Amino acid sequence: MSKILVTGGKRLVGEVNIVGAKNAALGILPATLLCKGECVLENVPDISDMRHYETMLRKLGANVTKSADGTMTVDTKDVTPDAISEIEEESRMMRASYYMIGTLLGLFKDVRLPLPGGCDIGARPIDQHIKGFKALGATVDLKEGYIHAYADKLVGSRVYFDVVSVGATINVMLGAVLAEGTTTLENVAKEPHVVDVANFLNKAGAKIVGAGTDVIKITGVKRLNPVSYCVVADQITTGTYMVAAAATNGDVTIRNIIPEHLDSISAKLREMGAEVIEDYDSLRVIGHTPLLPTKLKTLPYPGFPTDLQQPMGVLMCVAKGQSAITETIFENRFKYVDELVKMGASVIVAGNTAVFNGVDKLTGCPIRATDLRAGAAMIIAALMAEGTSEITGVEFIDRGYDNIVNDLKNLGADIERIDS
Ligand code: EPZ
Repeated sequence: MSKILVTGGKRLVGEVNIVGAKNAALGILPATLLCKGECVLENVPDISDMRHYETMLRKLGANVTKSADGTMTVDTKDVTPDAISEIEEESRMMRASYYMIGTLLGLFKDVRLPLPGGCDIGARPIDQHIKGFKALGATVDLKEGYIHAYADKLVGSRVYFDVVSVGATINVMLGAVLAEGTTTLENVAKEPHVVDVANFLNKAGAKIVGAGTDVIKITGVKRLNPVSYCVVADQITTGTYMVAAAATNGDVTIRNIIPEHLDSISAKLREMGAEVIEDYDSLRVIGHTPLLPTKLKTLPYPGFPTDLQQPMGVLMCVAKGQSAITETIFENRFKYVDELVKMGASVIVAGNTAVFNGVDKLTGCPIRATDLRAGAAMIIAALMAEGTSEITGVEFIDRGYDNIVNDLKNLGADIERIDS
């Protein structure tokens, strides 16, 4: 059982580079299966969800190699549908395994896999994914915890998503790129990682227009060609480090990013009294005390991302006054509050809203990551707290943060990972 020990009170100062986005790479890696031949992916994050995907691709017959600099080569010439049943174990381990359904439906027209796993932050149905596959002409059976999608052929269609869904947008795009005719997806997700998957597919020869807007149009093509592609910087890791800098009254420059992807976080941090200075491909965050209270509501991009509400909640614990978070995306994403209360925070959760009454300080103690982004929030709370905290549930953090302990240590944090 690994744990992370943090002794708070140290300002984060210096520079940090951001690696490729988890939620883009988890869509692009399966998408390489649609390209017959050898793709080269640069700036790939080294996280456990990606390692599960590498295992699945190898079991399907792909030759996957990785270099120390985050470059991954995927040769798919020997991929066949014969081993689909062998990737069930990995499919259960994460939410993003659902992209194997759209990809393998598009490639082989028949796929049966367990329903996906993932962080326990809500019901997380996949009805919109299924709506899209059926619109393309697939039959989709759900039974005994499995999804079985199959079709003689896939034909372009029009799909209106009832809810804005990152996963459904990417998944139906993966199923539609090789379909016959044109597919129109409406009320789609516009997150930077959705755009990045579309950019990868277009570079490989797909015909996708509108990614990043409310409507995506896909004209089916016969085949995709293997390409080299550099994964976009991780918006959520960047936001996590921005909040950590503000939480420690620090001065941190975050490089190799697209600042516009962080507009909502920059705006909220400025409201709380931090300085955020933008450059072409970097952001500098300078913390100031006292932190001021604010209110935020999570929304699909370009709204405030749900994946960063938990780190922001930590800041609100010590802001001078009353702050509030309304979580509109997931029904169960305030479990981390219980851990903050152990540290001395004063927070009341009522339905999908949490109200934070600022206290003078948090006090370090044993705390637990209850999901991936809650884990990042625990680290930020420990950085800010007086005394030492011991964080467990590190396996959640490993799912999405490539190098968070070393990155923070290099910025001056008193942080240590202990693997037993
Ligand atoms: C993706 O999850 C991300 N995961 C999540 O990041 C992120 O929090 C979420 O998008 C929102 O941005 C990956 O990309 C692997 P959704 P996903 O479909 O696709 C409802 C992290 O920490 N919905 O956009 O599961 C759903 O219940 C993780 O990196 C349906 O009702 O999210 C939710 O309320 C956590 N039916 C809302 O839509 C569906 O078919 C948004 O979910 C699909 C979703």
